[in-house]
Amino acid sequence: MDTVIAVKNLNVWYNHSVHAVKNVSIDIPRHTVVALIGPSGCGKSTFLRSLNRLLDTMENTNIEGEVIFNGKNIYHGDVDVTALRKQIGMVFQNPTPFPKSIYDNIAYGPLVNNEVGGYWGLSGIIKKFKKRKSASEVEASKDKLDGIVRESLKEAALWGEVKDRLFKSAYGLSGGQQQRLCIARAIAVKPEVILLDEPTSDLDPMATKKIEELVLKLKDSYTVIIVTHNIQQASRISDYVAFFHLGELVEYDTKKNIFTNPRHQLTAAYVKGEFG
Ligand SMILES: Nc1ncnc2c1ncn2[C@@H]1O[C@H](COP(=O)(O)OP(=O)(O)O)[C@@H](O)[C@H]1O
Ligand SMILES: [Mg+2]
Repeated sequence: MDTVIAVKNLNVWYNHSVHAVKNVSIDIPRHTVVALIGPSGCGKSTFLRSLNRLLDTMENTNIEGEVIFNGKNIYHGDVDVTALRKQIGMVFQNPTPFPKSIYDNIAYGPLVNNEVGGYWGLSGIIKKFKKRKSASEVEASKDKLDGIVRESLKEAALWGEVKDRLFKSAYGLSGGQQQRLCIARAIAVKPEVILLDEPTSDLDPMATKKIEELVLKLKDSYTVIIVTHNIQQASRISDYVAFFHLGELVEYDTKKNIFTNPRHQLTAAYVKGEFG
């Protein structure tokens, strides 16, 4: 198996008292969709956030164990956390576009990562460059950035809906469109892994269906780890399912085994909807 992330004996505590993730070990296979399921408060979000070091931004959080990404522990002292979060992108439950245009939301990552040869002012208009550039260099950078924006929006199945309003505010989009915009924003910096934390819990069924279809496509190019409290959603889109309960990983297996032949009584009860 080609493992993209191997988690070994991960423990997370909040405030030195809440043991939110308890000794979890899990291997995430590349180019699959892994669903994290379990009742509210069982540590799904905490676990997900530990995978791109988002917990580092919170005080009074203690983490032990290893998260091996492409063979290297992301908690090793010399890891560049900004670069890591580019490679392992995150999309949250509530859509979080920047208060900027659709174009700028996508362009922002490649710009700050200096991928288009120089710093561009936002709003699609060149405001300043770090270095002096010729008109043809400026044009080339602009073309490259336009291409990244277009391709990212296409990959996120949003291009057709926004191509005529790229310079309008992202806040004018529906909730489902904003979520796809956030996925496009993650894609724009060429990640390997995309983390999704209940991305459809605030969306209507149609918008949810679009995101689910998108997730199924994304695994061709990326590895997707998605938290969902919707058991049907996990059964529709995932390849592997990890069932968490009270901070512990109770069972991790193929979707088929989790839904038709679980090893643990607790898993069987949860997927039957006996508790939530
Ligand atoms: N910032 C925090 N400070 C203290 N406790 C927290 C914090 N975030 C989550 N917790 C606690 O950690 C446990 C796991 O929470 P969480 O990871 O959000 O679970 P889930 O995503 O499965 O609902 C819960 O007991 C929750 O109350
Ligand atoms: Mg959560």
